[in-house]
Amino acid sequence: MTIARLFDLTGQVALVTGASSGLGVRFAEVLAEAGAAVVLVARRADRLTVVKNTIEQNGGRAVAIAADVCDGAAMKAAFDAAEQAFGTVTALINNAGVVTSGRALDVNDADWRRVIGTNLDAVFAWSQEAARRMLAGNKGGAIVNIASMLGLAVAKGVAPYAVSKAGVIQLTKALALELGFKGIRVNAIAPGWIVTDLNRDYLAGEAGAAIKREIPVGRFGAARDLDGALLLLASDAGRFINGTTIVVDGGQVVAVRG
Ligand SMILES: NC(=O)c1ccc[n+]([C@@H]2O[C@H](COP(=O)([O-])OP(=O)(O)OC[C@H]3O[C@@H](n4cnc5c(N)ncnc54)[C@H](OP(=O)(O)O)[C@@H]3O)[C@@H](O)[C@H]2O)c1
Repeated sequence: MTIARLFDLTGQVALVTGASSGLGVRFAEVLAEAGAAVVLVARRADRLTVVKNTIEQNGGRAVAIAADVCDGAAMKAAFDAAEQAFGTVTALINNAGVVTSGRALDVNDADWRRVIGTNLDAVFAWSQEAARRMLAGNKGGAIVNIASMLGLAVAKGVAPYAVSKAGVIQLTKALALELGFKGIRVNAIAPGWIVTDLNRDYLAGEAGAAIKREIPVGRFGAARDLDGALLLLASDAGRFINGTTIVVDGGQVVAVRG
């Protein structure tokens, strides 16, 4: 293989959860540009159609499948539809996620369940399903979980989210250990502050200005700042990388005040 083809995903089928907004849109576009057929999953079908159309206009291949990642039957139907469209999914990007903010003592059961259910339980379920189908189809593959720097360090007011993302990082290691022998690599990306719908309003305010001062590179991230890590972990360029979490945060998580 030539160096130029290291990141080539031609022949791969990549399923991206949370592909209706923010990072997931960018991930889908990047994977398609690298040659993968892309399966777009989220609840908002109208938004997925827009993403699919953009990818197709740029010469890529995509299918949009509306599904809630917390719904097991919808998950199986999504993999079935993906297989019908393009064949076995060989790259799974577990990106769908939700956040809740508020001090730990004010978090109610519903919020805790919603965050853990979406950010952690669903990552496990979709990884299991993807891996089972890769093995049934005699395929290797790559699973890339979108964690967060809040899975490694923690701030006040994000207990459920931070716990869910710490779980994703440990789940990544556990799956890597069991699936590596079978040709399936499992890794994670832990982004720092990347401006998306999830946080745009918050980061535009005073709190955002204070956070920015703590980021060594002096700016928030943009979705495109994750392109390199994603392609590395999804492609043959990362063929010996398994169970790792790549932190992409401008250096914030290693910084100590003082
Ligand atoms: N932006 C950051 O600074 C940052 C930093 C670290 C980690 N992350 C992580 O990156 C991922 C993407 O975040 P983002 O910033 O791009 O947020 P976003 O713009 O709010 O996107 C979240 C995506 O998740 C989907 N989603 C949420 N719940 C779902 C469900 N039950 N079923 C299916 N899809 C669901 C949403 O689609 P629908 O609403 O259409 O279902 C949407 O496409 C998340 O896991 C987040 O925790 C983000």
